[in-house]
Amino acid sequence: MIIYSEGEKASNHKSKIECPESVKAGEDFELRVYVEGHPNKVEHSIRWIEVYFEEEGRDFNPVMLARMAFSEFASPDVRLKVKLEKSGKIIALAYCNKHGLWESEKSISVS
Ligand SMILES: [Fe+2]
Repeated sequence: MIIYSEGEKASNHKSKIECPESVKAGEDFELRVYVEGHPNKVEHSIRWIEVYFEEEGRDFNPVMLARMAFSEFASPDVRLKVKLEKSGKIIALAYCNKHGLWESEKSISVS
């Protein structure tokens, strides 16, 4: 399966991941995941975003945090309340019906 992460269409297909660089173990924090600047029409839109967490030291990764599907009435922009126990990497997959699957990631430190 092809998953894109760079190229001329990256800027409006890859999810932006906003969260603190470091958080405390077991404490809620806000995670925002969104795709910016993409058309949002029936014939061309970001249809879904999945968010995963790849936890350091875990035997099997990743863990799914959330899955969101969008119609043309809803922008691909979501906020999640998340708590983690160990450091790792947040990974977002965004699917455009014309331009495929796009991956982005952000490391987060848990102490
Ligand atoms: Fe697209």
